[in-house]
Amino acid sequence: MTSPDRSAAGTERAERPAELRFEGRLIVLAVTGSIAAYKAVELARALTLSGADVQVLMTHTATSFVGPLTFETLTRRRVMRDPLELLPDSRIGHIVAADTADAILVAPATARWLAAMAHGLADDVITATCLASAAPVVVAPAMDGEMHAHPATVANLAALRAFGYTIVGPDTGALASGATGEGRLAEPSRILGALAGALADRPVRVPGASARPPLDPTIRPTDLAGYRVLVTAGGTAEPIDAVRFIGNRSTGKMGVAVAEAAIARGAEVTLVAGMTSVPLPQGVTLVRAETADRMRAAVLQALPAADVLVMAAAVADFRPAEIHDRKLARDGGLTLELEPTPDILADAARAVRRRWQQGTADDAADPASNGEPVRVRDAGAAPPPVLVGFAAETGSLQRAGDKLARKGVDLLVANDVSEPGSGFGTETNRVTVLAPEAAPEPWPLLPKHEVAHRLLDRVGALLAQRSARWVTGESRGEGVDSRPLGPAEADGNFRAFVGTESRTERRR
Ligand SMILES: Cc1cc2nc3c(=O)[nH]c(=O)nc-3n(C[C@H](O)[C@H](O)[C@H](O)COP(=O)(O)O)c2cc1C
Repeated sequence: MTSPDRSAAGTERAERPAELRFEGRLIVLAVTGSIAAYKAVELARALTLSGADVQVLMTHTATSFVGPLTFETLTRRRVMRDPLELLPDSRIGHIVAADTADAILVAPATARWLAAMAHGLADDVITATCLASAAPVVVAPAMDGEMHAHPATVANLAALRAFGYTIVGPDTGALASGATGEGRLAEPSRILGALAGALADRPVRVPGASARPPLDPTIRPTDLAGYRVLVTAGGTAEPIDAVRFIGNRSTGKMGVAVAEAAIARGAEVTLVAGMTSVPLPQGVTLVRAETADRMRAAVLQALPAADVLVMAAAVADFRPAEIHDRKLARDGGLTLELEPTPDILADAARAVRRRWQQGTADDAADPASNGEPVRVRDAGAAPPPVLVGFAAETGSLQRAGDKLARKGVDLLVANDVSEPGSGFGTETNRVTVLAPEAAPEPWPLLPKHEVAHRLLDRVGALLAQRSARWVTGESRGEGVDSRPLGPAEADGNFRAFVGTESRTERRR
C-alpha cells in the first residue's frame, strides 16, 4: 500500500556496497514470527561473511518458524529470546545488545511487533532492546497484504518512522497466503543496502569484543571434519652450550588457539610444539620439536598427510654456528657467531610445489632435489595442502607482503608485535591477512581464539575451492607427468628434506 518515503528522515537511504560497511561492527539481527523468518538466515550469513559480529534476537513465535541453532551456528553467539535472559557473566542480555549494537535490523518484522514497538511494549526481547538502544534501527516488515494495509499497521509504521527508524519494504509479490499484494519481505540485498545507509559513516560504537554479547566457543561449525591440520606453535630454542640457548618470547598461545579451533571444527590435528608456556590441548598428535631443525623435520615429515599447514611458531632466524657440548665458563666473555636457520615455511611450500605442481628453477637447483628434474606430479586423489604462515613484524608490515610472494603460501597472517594488545603472550591479536592477488585485509583487535576461527573460515573456503578444482582436474597440471605416485615414491621428495628426529605422542 504505502511505499517508503525516501525523502523524509527515518526512511530508506541510498543503497551502498554493504560489505564495505559492516566489518568490525556489531549488528543485532532481530527476527519475528513471519513465514519469511527463514530469509533472515541469509541476512545473518551475509553479515558474518562481511566481517560483522552478529547477535540474533528472536521472538518466541519466530523460533517456531526457524531454529535458533541455525543462527547460533552462523553467528557463534547464543540467540537471545527473552528480555529476562542473563549472559553467562550475569549481565542483562538485551541491555548489553542495546548498548553495544552499531545497528539493529528487525527482519522480518510482523504486524504484532510493529504494534508493540509503536507503543513501547517491552514484553519481547526485540522491543526491549530497541527501547534501550541509541543505535539506528532498520525495520523490514513482512505480512499479509491486508494486514499491511490496515490503518493500525499504517499508523504503527508511521510511529516507527517518527522514531527515526528506517523502514525498508515490504515489496509487492506472492504472499504466503497464496494471494499477491504488498507485504513481501524486501530482497536481502535491499535490506543490507538500507542497513549500510543507516550506519553511514558512524564510528563503531563499542569496539572490541569484551563489552559485546560474548561468542560461545562451544558453538562451531564442523566444516573441517575429515581434514588433517598440521599446526606449529611456540618459539624455538637454539642451543649455545649444554644449558643455554637463544630463544624468543613466544608462548605458543596463537598456535594453540589454531589447534584448538581446528579440533572444535572436527579436524584431526597434529601439533608441532616448540618452547611453549601455555597448556597444550588434548586430542591432538603432539610432536615436540624445540629447535628450528627439529621443527623443520617434523613439519616435512607430517606434511604429506596434511590438508592444511598453519605455521604459527616463532622459529628463530639465527642460531649459534657452533654448539658447545659443555657449559661454557663465564670468565673471558663470549662472542657468538650466528648462522641463519632453515626457512621451514619456504621449504614446505617448495616441497608442495615439487609434489603437486611444476617446480621453479630455484627448486631444481635445490640440493634436496639430488639433481632430479622437477616434474609435475599428481599425488592421486588428494589436492595440495593449504599453506598458512604467520609473520611477526615490528613497525611496517611491508616485509610481510614480500614474504607472501617469496614463500609461495596461500595466506600470510601478519601482525605488528610491538602494538599494544598484539603479539607474544597477549590474549588478543590484531592481524592483517595477506593472500595472493588480493588487497591486504586488516582485522580488528580480536581474542586469539577468534583470530584462529576467522582464519579457519578462510582455510575452509580455500579447501572447498581446491577440492572442487581438483575434482574437475583444473589444477592437476595437464600435459606433464601426472601418474599417481606409488607409496615409496610419494614420500621420496619429502624424505630428502627430513633431517633430525622429534618426539611424537598422542594426547587424548
Ligand atoms: C504460517 C504463518 C505465517 C505467518 N506469517 C506472518 C507474517 O508474515 N507476518 C505477520 O505479521 N504475521 C504472520 N503470522 C502471524 C504471527 O506469527 C503472529 O501474529 C504472532 O503472534 C507474531 O508473533 P511475534 O511478533 O512475537 O513474532 C503468521 C502465522 C502463521 C501461522
